[in-house]
Amino acid sequence: MNHFLDIHKTDAGALRTMIDQAAAMKQARRDRPKGAPDDTQPLAGHMVALIFEKPSTRTRVSFDVGVRQMGGQTMVLSGSDMQLGHGETIADTARVLSRYVDLIMIRTFDEAVLTEMAEYADVPVINGLTDRTHPCQIMADVLTYEEHRGPIAGKKVVWTGDGNNVCSSFLHAAGQFGFDMTFTGPAQFDPEEEFVGLARSKGSRVVIERDAARAVEGADLVVADTWVSMHDAQSAKERRHNMLRPYQVNAELMAHAKPDALFMHCLPAHREEEATSEVMDGPNSVIFDEAENRLHAQKAIMRWCLGV
Ligand code: CP
Ligand code: NVA
Repeated sequence: MNHFLDIHKTDAGALRTMIDQAAAMKQARRDRPKGAPDDTQPLAGHMVALIFEKPSTRTRVSFDVGVRQMGGQTMVLSGSDMQLGHGETIADTARVLSRYVDLIMIRTFDEAVLTEMAEYADVPVINGLTDRTHPCQIMADVLTYEEHRGPIAGKKVVWTGDGNNVCSSFLHAAGQFGFDMTFTGPAQFDPEEEFVGLARSKGSRVVIERDAARAVEGADLVVADTWVSMHDAQSAKERRHNMLRPYQVNAELMAHAKPDALFMHCLPAHREEEATSEVMDGPNSVIFDEAENRLHAQKAIMRWCLGV
């Protein structure tokens, strides 16, 4: 069963094929009306369930549109409206949904919900973000980097701020796609040691550097994300902001990176907090390409899951 649960759990060759297919599908759609179906309809006759236990704009819309472009159909389900949110087990939910749909995408809190869904489902399951990882986002980010700058292998990616779920998937990708990563942020926000070790074991150079300006020296790509994720307690917001403020990505910080360094943010962003509008709307920012590429990357992921 081809579940897409995490980048480090997916074969590196398969990941490369997905990125290349996503780029080819994106190219094939150029000059065609927005929303029109693709020439090939590999998902015709397929029903995809999109389950959200957390809010979403990009993931929800890009999966829905992607399935439709490929000739399939979707149903968007809110976890709280399902029996899942009222005590039905994940295992039972997975077995029931498998009788109706061909593919399940789930955004949830605890990673255990995702893995249990995959264990009991008879259809492929895709990780649409958990508290711990966000693999679909980083597939889109690799696609985005490569369409602007060529192969990401051997490049220096600098993650700023909180070593959160998106950062974890970047570390997974570092190992699988062969790029280096520097994390810069306070020690309390360090990325998961296990994932740092995993990237290093695959040959990536992973550096932890507390000084943001030094970290960004020679960077090919600088990445920011929100300082307070959906799974973080809102009560900790002020404390987190105070600690993370020195890691804001602004023009001064970007000046330490290579002149052609790209800036990424998975969005949603809090402008003038983790990154300034000057950087987000500046010439090196590719944030809206990243958002668009969720669509193309996920279409390739879904095709791989379904073998179509
Ligand atoms: N980047 C991302 O996953 O955005 P949404 O939360 O809007 O889906
Ligand atoms: N780290 C963020 C990413 C949102 C797409 C969160 O989990 O809220």
